[in-house]
Amino acid sequence: MKTAKRMEDIPFSGIRKVFEEIGRREKNGEEIIHLEIGRPDFDTPAHIKSAAKQALDQGLVHYTSNTGLPELRRAIADKFASDNGLDYQPDSEIIVTIGANEAVFIAMMALLNPGDEVLIPSPCWTHYYQCAKLCGAVPVPVPLKKENRYLPRAADYEPYLSPKTRMIVINTPHNPTGAVYDRGILQDLADFAEAHDLFVLSDEIYEKLIYDGHRHISFAALPNMHERTVTINGMSKIYAMTGWRLGYAAAPKRLAEAMVRVHQYTTVCAVTFAQYGGYAALSESQDEVDRMVKAFDERRRLVCERLQGMPGIELIVPNGAFYVLPSVQKLGLDAQECAEYLLNTAKIAVVPGDAFGEFAQGTIRISYANSYENLEKAMNQMQIALEARS
Ligand SMILES: Cc1ncc(COP(=O)(O)O)c(C=O)c1O
Repeated sequence: MKTAKRMEDIPFSGIRKVFEEIGRREKNGEEIIHLEIGRPDFDTPAHIKSAAKQALDQGLVHYTSNTGLPELRRAIADKFASDNGLDYQPDSEIIVTIGANEAVFIAMMALLNPGDEVLIPSPCWTHYYQCAKLCGAVPVPVPLKKENRYLPRAADYEPYLSPKTRMIVINTPHNPTGAVYDRGILQDLADFAEAHDLFVLSDEIYEKLIYDGHRHISFAALPNMHERTVTINGMSKIYAMTGWRLGYAAAPKRLAEAMVRVHQYTTVCAVTFAQYGGYAALSESQDEVDRMVKAFDERRRLVCERLQGMPGIELIVPNGAFYVLPSVQKLGLDAQECAEYLLNTAKIAVVPGDAFGEFAQGTIRISYANSYENLEKAMNQMQIALEARS
């Protein structure tokens, strides 16, 4: 049996390969510190779990509306209004999805025709590439330059524009660089999108994980951008809910309706009791979020400070998410070799940068979503391993 032609160009995720190798080693008794993970190490806050448990106990176990529980959509609309200055109608412009993953997929399915081109910054979370390909569209990587601190500029996009370009993808705070885009950068991209009449997919899932006084700006809040933007967000990273698979998308009615049709014929609705948890997450105290962000910030400072003192490592200090993407070029190793060396010698797992696209060569992604103690230990082991090479 042959699989569909479209699958020939859809690889397994590069990060998955790292997980498999680590799993194999751990089974053999090796002790490895995980700096490859893209998920908070915290437990989901108790009040969120209680709300989901209560929903189950009350027999709230059936389908919800395709677009999600009305009270959850209302809470999402309120969050957009208060945090982002965005006005979305909960009944027609907000869709609760199975994670931001699904939101990206349904947005692309609804907006892209076969052969359409999507400009995607590189490095980036490669899901955008594969989803575009699944839609028959063509992902076009736009290299982000290290010398520009991996911040995108319209001028970087211009050479990749063609009559087939239909969408640009924006992700701030950014995975894997941790970069946060300020208003100037976003306005530059907004002018570009308007000049060339492009849709914009704005993935804002790391919105609250932001440090050093930086502020998140929603792309759709820029003048004239609401009409051409799909805003994507979710509970996974902010509320430590990756396994709940709860995300959401917001778009002007005409676009949202098309997205709902894809959602209807794939997932129907997000998991009902998870949605009750999501409602509690958005509508109750945010103290736990503040506590987690503070802890991430302390870990970020520790990791950056330690990396800056290591031979062969060059670092752009990130302002958001929970990743650092240091360059390891001066070590004389490529990304894969460096990740293998660190796994073998320092017993720490990182992701080779090329898992995030061809323009992340010579980098490794370190996630600081691990305890302060483990990070201290990991940085000590990494320092010893790198000093042994220099
Ligand atoms: C930029 C970005 N968007 C979305 C996601 C996935 O979010 P979810 O768990 O809501 O599907 C990830 C996960 O790593 C991510 O890095």
